[in-house]
Amino acid sequence: MRILTIASHKGGTGKTTLAAHVAVEAERSKAGPVAVIDTDPQGSLAAWWNTREASTPLFATVTIAQLPEHLTRLQQQGIKLVVIDTPPQTLDTIKAANIAADFVLIPIRPSPHDLRAVAGVVEMVENARKPFCFVINGATPRSNIAKQAIGALAEHGKVAPVTVHHRVDFAASMIDGRTVSELSPASPSAQEITLLCKYVLAQLRKYGKGD
Ligand SMILES: Nc1ncnc2c1ncn2[C@@H]1O[C@H](COP(=O)(O)OP(=O)(O)OP(=O)(O)O)[C@@H](O)[C@H]1O
Ligand SMILES: [Mg+2]
Repeated sequence: MRILTIASHKGGTGKTTLAAHVAVEAERSKAGPVAVIDTDPQGSLAAWWNTREASTPLFATVTIAQLPEHLTRLQQQGIKLVVIDTPPQTLDTIKAANIAADFVLIPIRPSPHDLRAVAGVVEMVENARKPFCFVINGATPRSNIAKQAIGALAEHGKVAPVTVHHRVDFAASMIDGRTVSELSPASPSAQEITLLCKYVLAQLRKYGKGD
């Protein structure tokens, strides 16, 4: 079983959106069974899942204090991939989720403010000795700012080779419990998610334990 944590100190970078999308896409690409875990008291991922009609991915209710035990149980149940969504700012929770992870995905908005906040989360992930990469989320299509952000981020670590752009279907999909790929499989958003998921699964294979 592999564990992907999605983390950033900053609020609203797209953690929950990407957690849902990567989980569903991984299931679609036969990397499942997939379980999602919402460690954020805001419960946004849980709310998305509760409005969802499809039975996959599985939603695992866990307490952060017992995260390792819960993960062992999921592994015993045959889960192959766990995606952990984390809250912004709650450092203890982010730390526990990083420690549990095989790989950490850090979504970043391409704004100066978000880029300045990057050092904090990088330090935490490095303290947990976990491999990680950034993914730029919410970039304006056809703008240069994402390219500049990639340059700035590359000084801190790897950047996923796909940028997720700002598109209304991402927001819409979260409201009705689906994903952009389920709403419109041929959309540019769906293609970005397919590429992102492929990359993340390859990183998990590279860094994860066992098969
Ligand atoms: N690529 C995108 N295009 C358009 N809207 C997006 C995109 N990514 C996220 N959003 C929207 O931005 C808002 C914040 O996204 P999300 O909830 O995923 O961020 P978060 O990092 O989980 O936030 P928090 O830190 O509060 O948990 C949501 O309304 C979401 O629908
Ligand atoms: Mg969230």
